[in-house]
Amino acid sequence: DVSRPPLVSVKGIPLIKYFAECIERLKDLQVWPDDVLISTYPKSGTTWVSEILDMIYQGGDQEKCQRGPIYTRVPFLEFKAPGILSGMETLKQIPAPRLIKTHLPLLLLPQALLDRKVKIIYMARNAKDVAVSYFNFYKMAKVHPDPGAWEDFLEKFMTGQVCYGSWYQHVQEWWELRKRQPVLYLFYEDMKKNPKREIQKITEFVGRPLPEDIIDRIVQQTSFKKMQENPMTNYTTAPTEVMDHSISPFMRKGITGDWKNTFTVAQNERFDADYEKKMADSDLHFHTDL
Ligand code: PPS
Repeated sequence: DVSRPPLVSVKGIPLIKYFAECIERLKDLQVWPDDVLISTYPKSGTTWVSEILDMIYQGGDQEKCQRGPIYTRVPFLEFKAPGILSGMETLKQIPAPRLIKTHLPLLLLPQALLDRKVKIIYMARNAKDVAVSYFNFYKMAKVHPDPGAWEDFLEKFMTGQVCYGSWYQHVQEWWELRKRQPVLYLFYEDMKKNPKREIQKITEFVGRPLPEDIIDRIVQQTSFKKMQENPMTNYTTAPTEVMDHSISPFMRKGITGDWKNTFTVAQNERFDADYEKKMADSDLHFHTDL
């Protein structure tokens, strides 16, 4: 039974109990020079960018991308849950070149990934849509505590008392990291607006250029609608105890600006004022036309 254990703090970062239990073991990670790390704060488009990368690695071959659910093709580094293969175990089963998913803040990231200078693709999404998506995910993914009412969850999000801690800290520290490490920093909103251009950027960054017709195919195959219908990307293969899609599907809406349907005017004003303070020292800017 995975049902709703409280979060556990690891070096001050709140984590799902099962994930917290495997942080120690991550230092045993064998890093290979051709590993590519996909890093995100949760609900920022991880699955989308993971599918895009696997498609690039498979030269746009849809059949090959059907070889297993996304979490077997792109292992989730810190994942662990009762009765399911952990991320570390999954990693041992896949051949190089590997794509690895993580949501960890830098404080908890295995140092070897940085020492070996692996390529990192970071995707950020605007805070308000992340908060709404995360709230719905907490409800359906029962490895999380009960999110409670929206306004309580929003408060926890703003104070970093959700799994993986502060969104504000996460997006800023990985933004700074690009000065020291090979980081391609992407935005969900850009990917929505011009997926072809963003996918091209990824192919260049990983040194795997592809002809235009293949890029076009990848754009089509990784559309929200296609990924929502695809059992290898929509997480319907995950056990119901871990994700209950009857509460809220993993592939929920896939749009920008959905926060407007959840935030009240008062919540929005409070959020904006707090956001200004938390992001004041950073030159990281998100789209404002949401
Ligand atoms: S997780 O659990 O943190 O790995 O989730 P993650 O994949 O980062 O985020 C899930 C949200 O991304 C949306 N999504 C997409 N949007 C647009 N296009 C595509 N192809 C796509 N695939 C996933 C998904 O619907 C979640 O957002 P919301 O707002 O909840 O719909």
